[in-house]
Amino acid sequence: MILITGGAGYIGAHVNKLINENGYQTIVLDNLKNSNQEMVKWGKFIKGDLNDENLISSIFKKYQIDIVIHLAELTSVSESVNNPSKYYENNYQYSVNLLNIAIRFNINKFIFSSTAAVYGNPKIIPISEKNACNPINPYGKSKLMFEEYLIKKSKEIENFNSVIFRFFNAAGADSNHEIGENHNPETHLIPIVLDVALGKRKKIGIFGADYPTPDGTCIRDYIHVNDIASAHLKVIDFLDKEKSDIFNLSMGKGFSVNEIIESCQRVTNSKIPHVIKNRRDGDPAILIADNKKVKKDLKWRTEFNQIDDIIKTSYNYQKKIN
Ligand SMILES: NC(=O)c1ccc[n+]([C@@H]2O[C@H](COP(=O)([O-])OP(=O)(O)OC[C@H]3O[C@@H](n4cnc5c(N)ncnc54)[C@H](O)[C@@H]3O)[C@@H](O)[C@H]2O)c1
Repeated sequence: MILITGGAGYIGAHVNKLINENGYQTIVLDNLKNSNQEMVKWGKFIKGDLNDENLISSIFKKYQIDIVIHLAELTSVSESVNNPSKYYENNYQYSVNLLNIAIRFNINKFIFSSTAAVYGNPKIIPISEKNACNPINPYGKSKLMFEEYLIKKSKEIENFNSVIFRFFNAAGADSNHEIGENHNPETHLIPIVLDVALGKRKKIGIFGADYPTPDGTCIRDYIHVNDIASAHLKVIDFLDKEKSDIFNLSMGKGFSVNEIIESCQRVTNSKIPHVIKNRRDGDPAILIADNKKVKKDLKWRTEFNQIDDIIKTSYNYQKKIN
């Protein structure tokens, strides 16, 4: 049985679906603070918070958990800049508690959802897993702190293996539109741009058009959420045979904010007005991953390789929920 923390969230719901479709049983633990139980259509759902050590222990006591997939984290860079201690507590301290309880119950496989934000402002692009990690916001720092703790435990404990996935920007939605991205408030670029196309917002604000990039707007590497889910499936087999490791998960291509708006215009066949705003604290100019390692070691491939195709799946989901 697989415990998925944060399985009611955007990425967790897609991971939970694919893993169930491939014959595994799951338990989803989520406090629903940033999600909705409607996203948990597979496995058993337990509402609860990672800070509740008694609840977590009781889950390991009651169910035969073999693997933990840990996705229950706070994810807003700007919120982390305004309230860093909330991020260190939720993303670092609660993760440490979860891991220590899992280890006490002899769990020996742990998969952690880290982020491109651990790299900060990378000196070398594309970013390989060997790049230095210098996060420039508390969100990225809180994730790196837990990565370091997990790596230490993985070295100390014989037969305990972990995989750290550093996701770049997750995007898109499941093709049958059962689940998708629906944060409240939404902080991610693609659903916000699509909100403008759907008439829910008047215009899109671009945070900074004076970055050292060809069109001045920030560049990010995107990955379809189902490609993230399929990497989790691959890694379950990998953890049976291999030692702990770190993998970037991305398409390996960069798109500027302007290019994302242009793609949304093509997909929605509408004009999307925008306004240039000041830069936000904590945003690196360019994040593009080198994804060779995950392709080689996990034999993983992205099903979605065109940004328009990814955005189409988001648009179909946004149309359904609006
Ligand atoms: N979405 C992205 O582009 C992206 C990029 C890089 C990394 N990640 C990582 O992927 C993971 C999932 O991200 P997401 O976009 O699905 O976010 P999300 O907010 O949709 O999902 C996170 C879920 O965790 C739950 N949660 C948070 N803290 C909890 C706690 N203390 N106890 C119980 N439940 C808790 C939330 O209610 C939510 O359902 C996170 O670890 C995030 O850092 C996401």
